[in-house]
Amino acid sequence: MPLTYSILQSLSDGSFHSGETLAKAAGVTRAAVWKAIHCLQTDYALEIHSVHGRGYRLAQSIELLNRDAILQQLQRQSQLAGLETFLTIASTNRYLMQAPAHDITAPWVVLAEQQTAGRGRRGRVWHSPFAGNIYLSLLWRFQQINANFVGLSLVIGVVVCRLLSQLGIMQLGLKWPNDILCQGKKLSGVLIEMRGETHGPYDAVIGIGLNLMMPETGEREIDQPWIALSQMLPALPSRNTLAARLIDLLLEALPQFETHGLQPFLAEWRALDAFRDQAVVVHLGENRVHGIERGIDEQGALLVEVEGKQQRYYSGEISLRRR
Ligand code: BTN
Repeated sequence: MPLTYSILQSLSDGSFHSGETLAKAAGVTRAAVWKAIHCLQTDYALEIHSVHGRGYRLAQSIELLNRDAILQQLQRQSQLAGLETFLTIASTNRYLMQAPAHDITAPWVVLAEQQTAGRGRRGRVWHSPFAGNIYLSLLWRFQQINANFVGLSLVIGVVVCRLLSQLGIMQLGLKWPNDILCQGKKLSGVLIEMRGETHGPYDAVIGIGLNLMMPETGEREIDQPWIALSQMLPALPSRNTLAARLIDLLLEALPQFETHGLQPFLAEWRALDAFRDQAVVVHLGENRVHGIERGIDEQGALLVEVEGKQQRYYSGEISLRRR
């Protein structure tokens, strides 16, 4: 186990640990401990207090991701081909998109404490500070060539809302295709990337970011109103438990979607539609279309009333029109 990680594990309880105890436990010198502490402060932006005579402690205790703990809590573990957790990674989506098909088979899940190049939709950056949130990607293989990919986006939004409702979170909404909002602010985002051959099968890399606790520095770097679970719940649930529940819900919903399509999820999505009957702007590349959002059709396409006529959109993004 790398020294930085073993020291982080010792410090994760939020109590003081002397340099000497940390050094003894890891079988290294105190100078090596100091170096590791410095690395935790700079590379992972962790706030660590150093007090003469008492040692080091994290400003806040943290629960680190634990692969075994996640696997133990999974009810559908037998359905999963693999699960990996990383301390730091460029992007969990990128990792799965680039993984050689013979090394990694579907369904495969990757989670990380931190992403240094977290990807959002439309080329945006997904701010991914260390150990506070959930960054999860799942590789799913579709056997059908004609899978409905707009529908898939909507299903994932519904799955995340199911998870949040189980936690007692209210005032949830979905912004087409799959932004998860709470009190009108973004709580979770989904990025689905595809790879595959022309004649299938197709791999979908389903990436989900869920805000649990955003450090203040995050606030300045996110360009839209956001919210985190810590602002709604008196105590945060375990990240390992949350990850396990999310994986179980995905493994329940995806085979259902493959067999029955969007149908079993339509009513739920429509009930969560945050912009229904509101004046919206549809962003299609450089183009903007103004209209009234009228829900989704059976395939998941967005319906917008534009100058009295109903239009259908299979891609793009919407925002509320300011009056
Ligand atoms: C959005 O813009 O709303 C989509 C955000 C998706 C973020 C997640 S975090 C895990 C996965 N890895 C990435 O690089 N992006 C997705």
